[in-house]
Order: sequence, then C-alpha cells, then structure tokens
Amino acid sequence: MAALCAIALIACNKPAENMNESVNKQDAVLENILTRVSVRQFTGEKISQEQIDLLLRAAMAAPSAINRQPWAFIVITDDQLINKLGEALPYSRCNNHPACAFIPCGDLSKAIEGEMGAFWINDVSAATENLLLAAHAMGLGAVWTGLHPDMKRAALVQQLLGLPEHIVPLCVVPVGVPAEQPEVKDKFKMENIHYNGWN
Ligand SMILES: Cc1cc2nc3c(=O)[nH]c(=O)nc-3n(C[C@H](O)[C@H](O)[C@H](O)COP(=O)(O)O)c2cc1C
Repeated sequence: MAALCAIALIACNKPAENMNESVNKQDAVLENILTRVSVRQFTGEKISQEQIDLLLRAAMAAPSAINRQPWAFIVITDDQLINKLGEALPYSRCNNHPACAFIPCGDLSKAIEGEMGAFWINDVSAATENLLLAAHAMGLGAVWTGLHPDMKRAALVQQLLGLPEHIVPLCVVPVGVPAEQPEVKDKFKMENIHYNGWN
C-alpha cells in the first residue's frame, strides 16, 4: 500500500513534504523493486479501469532515447481474446486466468531514424519493467512473456490483433490478482560487478 501511495504521489507530481516522508518513499520503492517476482497464475478476478490507467501511466513514465516514446500499448480486456492469446501462445500464460493482458509495442513511426532505430527495444523494455513494478506495488501479479525478436510469435500476435506493420509487439504481460506467491529470487552476484573496467 505504501508503494501504491508513492506511485500516486509521483503521478500527482507532489513533492514529499518532509524528510521522513522521502525516506519512507525510498524504502517503499526499493522494497518494491527487490520483491518483484513473476506471477503466472491468476484468480480470474477483474481489475478496475483506474488500475489499468495507473499501470499505463507507470509504463509511459519510462525513459526513452531522446524522449521519442516510440511505443503503443494494446490492452486486452476481452476474455475471449485473452483465451485466444493463451491458445496461440501457451508461454504467454494468458490461459492462466489473468484479469487482462498488456502488449507493449514499438511504434516504428516514432522510432529514431537510421541505425539508432533499434533503441525502441530498450525504450519499450523500460516501459515494460515499469509496468511490472507498478503491478507489484498495486498488489497485482504480472509476468513479462517474450515475443520480439521471435518473429513467429510476434507475427502471430500482429495477425490476431490486426496490428499495422509499424506496430511491433515486444511482449505480452498478463496481469491479474495473484493465485500464487512465488518465492523472490536473490539475484545479487558479486561476480557480475566490475569497478573501473574489467578487473
Ligand atoms: C525477455 C523476457 C522474456 C520472457 N519470456 C517469458 C515467457 O515466455 N514465459 C514466462 O513464463 N516467463 C517469461 N519471462 C519471465 C522470466 O522467466 C523471469 O523474469 C525470470 O525467470 C526471473 O524470474 P522473476 O521475474 O520472478 O525474478 C521472460 C522474461 C523476459 C525478461
């Protein structure tokens, strides 16, 4: 709940009123990042439009190269369509009763021109991580399931949803009320860290 308040605060653009509040906000945000986990089983309970809007607001708050924001978000709330996605793409976990599914996409018409164009993948990935973190802060479960660069999976979704050619789906993120509580993985490894070069 504290983390949800922190998100709401940021969404309203209100500065923290005092030092204690900013320390609490810091703790809540870090705890949220460190306890996020992929959730793949859902209760089937629906979530509100307000919750969907907040998730989209969090996604679009992500950084993007030269602030191009080269993204589009398809929100699937229709149960039949969610089931179709689940049938076509079992790894998307859409057959596990999510409330809805988000499909963060690259909008190539907004991407940087030329060889830097592929930055859209980084930008939409940042938006997807924001979406996952916001879902976790709101007590919801979610999982990033990959499409791009698997052209077969991406083409399946493009066809199923009638996406124009310049809209490239990056992943499917089913979101819902968790029906499981997977253990948080501690992924901190000293071996991955190198100060001042490859030492
Ligand atoms: C690019 C990418 C593709 C992924 N694809 C799938 C997928 O197709 N199905 C799935 O269940 N999880 C998928 N995941 C979730 C990962 O399996 C998960 O993040 C990883 O096991 C670490 O677990 P955690 O998210 O609980 O920390 C994907 C994650 C990423 C970043």
